[in-house]
Amino acid sequence: MSFGPSDCGDDIDRIMDVMTGAFAPEYGEAWNRRQVSDSLLLTGTGYCLIGADGTVGSTSEEPTAGFALTRSVFDEEELLLFAVLPQYRGKGLGAALLTEVIARARQRGIRRLFLEMRRNNPAGKLYTGFGFRTVGIRPGYYRTASGERLDALSQELHITDN
Ligand SMILES: CC(C)(COP(=O)(O)OP(=O)(O)OC[C@H]1O[C@@H](n2cnc3c(N)ncnc32)[C@H](O)[C@@H]1OP(=O)(O)O)[C@@H](O)C(=O)NCCC(=O)NCCS
Repeated sequence: MSFGPSDCGDDIDRIMDVMTGAFAPEYGEAWNRRQVSDSLLLTGTGYCLIGADGTVGSTSEEPTAGFALTRSVFDEEELLLFAVLPQYRGKGLGAALLTEVIARARQRGIRRLFLEMRRNNPAGKLYTGFGFRTVGIRPGYYRTASGERLDALSQELHITDN
């Protein structure tokens, strides 16, 4: 995981390229550039990139296909944002990125990984496959652009040593 804006060079551009293309406007989940750069000023906030060839990190010559943004406090971490561009989906890049996020969290002594998702997000299948389980529901928490209310599901993964 890379931390802070000082060492991220062009990585915020890479994150924003994915952000713009990956999140459906209907759900209002995408962050703007300011939100991303401000978040990276906070202690414990970091990101991970994945290239179209599956290479993790920002050194790949390939276009960036996806990113994860996380924030950790003590031994807990939250997956704040997680996305792969539509043209690169269904090839295992999301799973590879999540595997990397979990491995790096484990290396830093993180014990629990949290995320929040809207009910029925297809990404839930991916999370379930990694062992995340629903630990809380906020009824009608999200409001879509068309006014529909959707539940927020809080998901948790216990990270073990192996
Ligand atoms: C979620 C996301 C990152 C998955 O990326 P991806 O590269 O397509 O994921 P993978 O190819 O590694 O898929 C791994 C598994 O997840 C499941 N999965 C992921 N996306 C899915 C989708 N849209 N529909 C159904 N299953 C999906 C599948 O079970 C898949 O396993 P399979 O290949 O054996 O079928 C991507 O769909 C995305 O960016 N979505 C929009 C942003 C978003 O909703 N982020 C999560 C916010 S909580």
